[in-house]
Amino acid sequence: MPKARRGLKEKLEAVLTPSELSLVYRSYDIVGDIAVIKVPESLVEKSRLIAEAIMETHKHVSTVLRQVTPIHGDLRIRGLEWVAGERKTETVHREFGCLFKVDLKRCYFSPRLLNERMRIARLVREGETVVNMFSGVGCYSIMIARHSKARKVYSIDINPDAVRYMRENVRLNRVEGVVEPIEGDAKDVILERLRRVADRVLMPLPEKAYKYLKYALEALKKQGGWIHYYDFEHASKGENPVRKVEWKVSERLRSLEARFTVAHGKVVRTVGPRFYQIVLDILVKQP
Ligand SMILES: C[S@@+](CC[C@H](N)C(=O)[O-])C[C@H]1O[C@@H](n2cnc3c(N)ncnc32)[C@H](O)[C@@H]1O
Repeated sequence: MPKARRGLKEKLEAVLTPSELSLVYRSYDIVGDIAVIKVPESLVEKSRLIAEAIMETHKHVSTVLRQVTPIHGDLRIRGLEWVAGERKTETVHREFGCLFKVDLKRCYFSPRLLNERMRIARLVREGETVVNMFSGVGCYSIMIARHSKARKVYSIDINPDAVRYMRENVRLNRVEGVVEPIEGDAKDVILERLRRVADRVLMPLPEKAYKYLKYALEALKKQGGWIHYYDFEHASKGENPVRKVEWKVSERLRSLEARFTVAHGKVVRTVGPRFYQIVLDILVKQP
């Protein structure tokens, strides 16, 4: 366990029972100088104590917010309530030398995907054109622009607030000219102006990626290219969630008459009991 989290556990042990402690001490994220905690209803009145322990442990945290709804809806945003510190929901998060400004109440953001973002950025070859279908405030796109020699990263999002922050992040990270933010539904944007342009398509929205596979194929160049496909999958004992997604997606791609190989697949993270976020790296070949 990292030192800071161990320190927090010790502080919380002083104010919570062992069963209360097991419910809260792992379930928080730090984004920039804001901590987002998940406190079950039964412990709401202890939110302030938990927040103070977090602020004592992580000295740079100046605000603690409590997540009061799951991430929901098309825009993948969550309800947040102020608990302690400065009253704000906007912050700047640093990751692998990139800066991401975000309003956590208005836009999706997860600090837990940093290694996946870096993995994708390292796959991008010099001169590539990338289409990011679900860009949020631009995390994958900016990581790619900063850590590869991509020619262009078209970065689509349907949430006007996310696109506004993405534009600001493009300036903050000095990747103007490489990352091009576009507001709209990825389906429409691809059909209207990004057909057959991409060497690589990113689909970092597990809730919609399956439905939008058709449009990812439309965005790829005629000679083919890569699709990074994200999904959620359950797996009971003995089942392999990666194989389940591979099977489902392969069926769909065959029905769309694509020639392809699933070159790589893995669990990105566990999101619940026997419930996983999966990525597949799919090489689509010339038809
Ligand atoms: C899970 S978030 C991922 C954001 C970003 N890739 C990241 O890792 O921070 C998915 C994003 O897709 C956007 N979105 C949802 N439906 C969309 C659509 N049809 N077209 C474009 N963007 C969409 C949401 O607004 C949200 O910002």
